[in-house]
Amino acid sequence: MTHRSEIRFLLNGRAVRLPSVPASQTLLDFLRLDRRLTGTKEGCAEGDCGACTVLVGRLTRDGLRYEAVNACIRFLASLDGCHVVTVEHLSGEGGALHPVQRAMVEHHGAQCGFCTPGIVMSLYALWMETPRPTEREVETALQGNLCRCTGYAPIIRAAVAVSDYGTPEADYLTRERDRVAAELTALKDGLRVETGPEDDRAILPADLDDFAQVHAAHPEATVIAGATDVGLWVTKFLRPISPAIFIAHLDGLKSIDVSGDAITLGAGVSYSELEPLLARHLPHLTDYWSRIAGWQVRNAGTIGGNIANGSPIGDTPPVLIALGAEVTLRHAATRRTLPLEAFFIDYGKQDRTPGEFVESIRIPLPGAATRCAAYKITKRRDEDISAVAFGIAVTMEQGRITDARIALGGMAATPKRAAMAEAALTGQPWSESTFVKAAAAMAQDFTPLTDWRASSAYRMRVARNLLRRFFLEQDGQPVRLSA
Ligand code: FAD
Ligand code: FES
Ligand code: FES
Repeated sequence: MTHRSEIRFLLNGRAVRLPSVPASQTLLDFLRLDRRLTGTKEGCAEGDCGACTVLVGRLTRDGLRYEAVNACIRFLASLDGCHVVTVEHLSGEGGALHPVQRAMVEHHGAQCGFCTPGIVMSLYALWMETPRPTEREVETALQGNLCRCTGYAPIIRAAVAVSDYGTPEADYLTRERDRVAAELTALKDGLRVETGPEDDRAILPADLDDFAQVHAAHPEATVIAGATDVGLWVTKFLRPISPAIFIAHLDGLKSIDVSGDAITLGAGVSYSELEPLLARHLPHLTDYWSRIAGWQVRNAGTIGGNIANGSPIGDTPPVLIALGAEVTLRHAATRRTLPLEAFFIDYGKQDRTPGEFVESIRIPLPGAATRCAAYKITKRRDEDISAVAFGIAVTMEQGRITDARIALGGMAATPKRAAMAEAALTGQPWSESTFVKAAAAMAQDFTPLTDWRASSAYRMRVARNLLRRFFLEQDGQPVRLSA
């Protein structure tokens, strides 16, 4: 297939064309080392602190969309066809401060200032979407930004007040929207991109079918979607990823189809892209979703990536398994579909052959007789990995449980169903004693590990208590959990 090697994107107000980009080069290194745009900081280099936050604009079916992302774990090659906006681009004529910057200054939102450019960029993204945010909305937007010295109260006051200093309508990104969209459209030539040196090669397939072909031809390649896992393999473990196949740009993996009794998602749908649908179709997942990582990671990280990484502590598999989700895998032109729980075979081992990839996920929507819940237990509320993740769906008929699906993460080497607890519920009356017995049965389902997140005994107690909590919440009783 004809291809090009040049990576093309817009950086602030300029077009950038790079003849060769190594797969492992991060956007942050490019900005700071190559372009000397040192306003974007490096704190952790693992997506946690937000000091490196930039905006990335990309063309979607709904037009040009800007999102806050972590430059430290975003690979430069994946920005082909995008608009990157850094903090340097915020100042107006003669260096005048941007409304977000003025609000931060006047509400004393910075002390040492190291986190400030990242916080400004997250607040900028929030203000463009929600000009008068509530404190809760600000807190959600700042889940992925750590400030060690100012304290968050002045920052939140600044965030709420940004619109006192200007309007998004007058902002550069609004005024220039049509021009930028036209420039990004002109960059789309429908070609496959192959770039970088032989030992650090990046491939951006032209479309979904091309991806299937490329991966079948390079089964050993590293597939990279949002890079919120793979980014760390490079920045923390210096792991080679060549050849890397980047897929975040593929529209064919971004489909969201709600039809009748199910939602079918392309594997490349990000957490943020699915979020607006949750309130309507899966309301029990809305709070849970906002506890997955921070905003920047939810903007980049994909549901397909969360499944394909095979982690026993990924947040989506337990709740999707509880809903009866199925995953469709594709190798070249051949597809097969299996229940999501069957995909996870053992620690680090999934039912996936070389060259096969996750194409889509089908999530059946619960009917009126099914009660669902999702719980995430972590050491701190925001931006933390689960010690235990819990999904449950229980179907009832005339006061009796006709079907129960319970799946947990953090309790075994894979996300796993609680088969004995499910059996203890099925066919039984909806009552506290039924749930107490099912909670006891969980001891036969799991032998959890002790690690730095939680002890084995804690995990087991939490899992049992969550089952009782589900009953009490659904039954409208106060939740008082015992030992
Ligand atoms: P990538 O990093 O691109 O890829 C991950 C793996 O999946 C790789 O092995 C890749 O080859 C493979 N892959 C990706 N897409 C496909 C596909 N379509 N077919 C085949 N293979 C594929 N996770 C949680 O569950 N909960 C959290 O709270 C959470 N917090 C995080 C916080 C931070 C700061 C960071 C950096 C990460 C966090 N994560 C969390 C992990 C990560 O964000 C998720 O696992 C995310 O869903 C991964 O998706 P991705 O698109 O970024 O995957
Ligand atoms: Fe900490 Fe990127 S440097 S999130
Ligand atoms: Fe110092 Fe936030 S102002 S880290």
